[in-house]
Amino acid sequence: MPYVVSLVCSRCGRKYEPRQNPLLCERRDLGRLDINYDYDSIMEKLDRDEIERRPHLGVWRYAELMPADKRFAAQLNEGNTPLIRSKRLAELLGMKNLYLKDETRNPTASFKDRAMAVGAAKAAEMGKKDVVIASSGNAASSLAAYSAALGLRCCAFVPEDVARGKAAQLLLLGARVVRVKQTEEGRDPTVQMMLKTVEELGWYPSPSFGPFNPYQVEGPKTISYEVVEQLGWRSPDAILVPTGSGCLLTGVWRGIRDLNALGIVEETPRLFPVQPMGNQPLVRAINSGKRFEEIEPEKWPKSIASGLLDPFPWDGDAAMQATRSSGGEGVAVSDEEIINAVKLLASREGIFAEPSGAAGLAGLKKLLDEGKIDKTDTVVVLVTGSGLKEAEKATKLYGEPPLIEPRVEELTKALNI
Ligand SMILES: Cc1ncc(COP(=O)(O)O)c(C=O)c1O
Ligand SMILES: [Zn+2]
Repeated sequence: MPYVVSLVCSRCGRKYEPRQNPLLCERRDLGRLDINYDYDSIMEKLDRDEIERRPHLGVWRYAELMPADKRFAAQLNEGNTPLIRSKRLAELLGMKNLYLKDETRNPTASFKDRAMAVGAAKAAEMGKKDVVIASSGNAASSLAAYSAALGLRCCAFVPEDVARGKAAQLLLLGARVVRVKQTEEGRDPTVQMMLKTVEELGWYPSPSFGPFNPYQVEGPKTISYEVVEQLGWRSPDAILVPTGSGCLLTGVWRGIRDLNALGIVEETPRLFPVQPMGNQPLVRAINSGKRFEEIEPEKWPKSIASGLLDPFPWDGDAAMQATRSSGGEGVAVSDEEIINAVKLLASREGIFAEPSGAAGLAGLKKLLDEGKIDKTDTVVVLVTGSGLKEAEKATKLYGEPPLIEPRVEELTKALNI
């Protein structure tokens, strides 16, 4: 890690040397070990031209800004996802500059591949054999895929009602998968189990939450690097981020901060975390001016957006700071609004997203209606995960297609033509 200078606990300020490879703060205070880089040295190597010259090697295209040694990385080629300039959706919303960052195109079909590429590489670098994760499914599938490629053993704790496609994907990727019941209000039982295996079995934790693994947070930074490059080295005016733990939002913000520090771009976009109404501890806290310590976990989270159901936003401190300092705010959307966004993305842009992946668009519609985002703004909506993993939800919306005998009269009848 030649460019990492230190890791500092976000709660108690304790400082760690990079060569210690810390994972959790020794004080077990749920602080995230924020990573500091030697920007002056990185600046000598990395500028716009240099980045453009480099091939797309996933997050390792930006190796100087990653906290693991790329020689230990698996090459699944995450990232380099298209930034699609919306036409039909933009037209409907009356917008001029709407872009969709299509993260469904990642190796396991969600943005979490960026995080787990780094988390798994770090495990391999540290000589770990067993890795463990708590997840609603996407991050677990990512970790399982990178573990398969690196020969690590992966154990995944998932919720009782995990989507069938996500469980199937996980099992096929070779993970040991265990569903865990929620028995206490406001507590995530998958996280409780993960922590027990870390303390009692010595497994390497790699969930997509900062306080339990500081390295993986750095993967999603590359979304910001790519967006800025894809816009011709300009920052958008706003980015809409589907949010559960707040780790993705934290990554997106750090990516921008890196680019600012390296002098690659000067502006900062306004950041808008979007949560479902049935689980919005972070949005509530941001919009009511609360501090991180005052966040109340959601007792029994409930929404169609299964990836956004963390009862407590583990990276809420950084997410709050990112949102406020960028001039953004939190947005809560109903399940109906999320379903509408899924339908719009599919039918107007050809992107099949899962509900969690489409929440950003639902948030944008709301902010446009409230006049908080201007129709002339350059806006990027992150579409974070594929609908194929939760196909049963789509089936519920539209049912089974009609069955006919191969005759035109039957077709015209079935389709009401
Ligand atoms: C598809 C999708 N979008 C967004 C998120 C939210 O990310 P975070 O928990 O980092 O806020 C998740 C998390 O599981 C997800 O699966
Ligand atoms: Zn600490």
